[in-house]
Amino acid sequence: MPIRHHIAERMKLLDASGIRKVFDLAAKLPDPINLSIGQPHFDVPAPAKAEAIAAIKRGFNKYTQTQGHPDLRAAVAAAAAEEFGWDDQKPYLITSGVSGALLLAFMTLINPGDEVILLDPYFVMYKHLVHLAGGKAVMVDTYPDFTPDPDKIAAAVTDRTTLLVVNSPGNPTGRVYSSDELRAVAEVADRAGLLVVSDEIYNLFCYDTPFASMASVYENTLLMRGFSKSYAMTGWRMGWCTGPVKIIEKMTMLQQYSFVCAPSMAQAAGAAALACDMSQQVADYRRKRDMVQEALAEPFGLRKPGGAFYAFVPAPKGMTGSEFVERAIENNVLIIPGNVFSERDTHFRISYATSDEKLAEGLKILARLGR
Ligand SMILES: Cc1ncc(COP(=O)(O)O)c(C=O)c1O
Repeated sequence: MPIRHHIAERMKLLDASGIRKVFDLAAKLPDPINLSIGQPHFDVPAPAKAEAIAAIKRGFNKYTQTQGHPDLRAAVAAAAAEEFGWDDQKPYLITSGVSGALLLAFMTLINPGDEVILLDPYFVMYKHLVHLAGGKAVMVDTYPDFTPDPDKIAAAVTDRTTLLVVNSPGNPTGRVYSSDELRAVAEVADRAGLLVVSDEIYNLFCYDTPFASMASVYENTLLMRGFSKSYAMTGWRMGWCTGPVKIIEKMTMLQQYSFVCAPSMAQAAGAAALACDMSQQVADYRRKRDMVQEALAEPFGLRKPGGAFYAFVPAPKGMTGSEFVERAIENNVLIIPGNVFSERDTHFRISYATSDEKLAEGLKILARLGR
């Protein structure tokens, strides 16, 4: 009898070919200047490390409540109360990273055939998770300056639209939305009755204007925050989510049957992390952003990104993003083609989360290739 296992049809909806090609090319480089990495280059702050170690040593190694340990939820609620002026009636779910929150949310909220509006360029996971849930990702183009255009969003809404995803500061663009821009998007969402999923994982990394949250301007928001970027805890898998009670309840139920809970020692460290002052790290990244702008504005026509730790740079005239990335890799600089994050192949993404030396070296090469 042939063995009856097969790969499920839904897996055909996932595609990692763009990024795999980059990694295949990069594997041939002995010591590349790596400007492709989507995580901070600094380490977890010492008090958070100490808490995680202490938690493991005192035996805090079991499952926690699915919704997260009460102490961490209280710390998150206190931080949110201070930021938003909310009372403590809001439901909080501690998740395995923002990735975990996204998966739970999309599985909870998307029926097969439902449409989800993404602003292009988008964080690559959104598209694939929407597809996995049986939904259709509807792209709204935001080129060339990555401003969300309320009219274009309104024009993309159909009877099947259920969600709109926003991400500010954004990956891959580093674009930060102002309160006014968020309000204009919220008006469209309100008129159409849409829930907005607001991925605010880079909220700490805003360099020119104060951070503005969709949750401050629109009630019907599913707000997601993370620890991965703010506190460099990418491997610890921690995030949180709040929003309408009924949705959080269903997401919690699904977490019970999937992730179970976020890692216990990371939850123990979470409150300590929230109390850490990260302003030095943020100032450091602001300076690196300035280095990028200084080096790439003129050769590439880069518009200044205001946050996260990315720049999304137009490829030189006559070249696709992928072609330029191949050239950069031939010159020992690892970057990511824009078509990994977009329906277009006109840009490339650099991450400046690296040492000043490596960044300066990489920028010099890129600037030369752009001239
Ligand atoms: C915009 C955005 N959202 C979510 C994530 C996932 O982060 P995590 O699951 O580590 O919290 C990332 C990571 O690169 C990201 O860039």
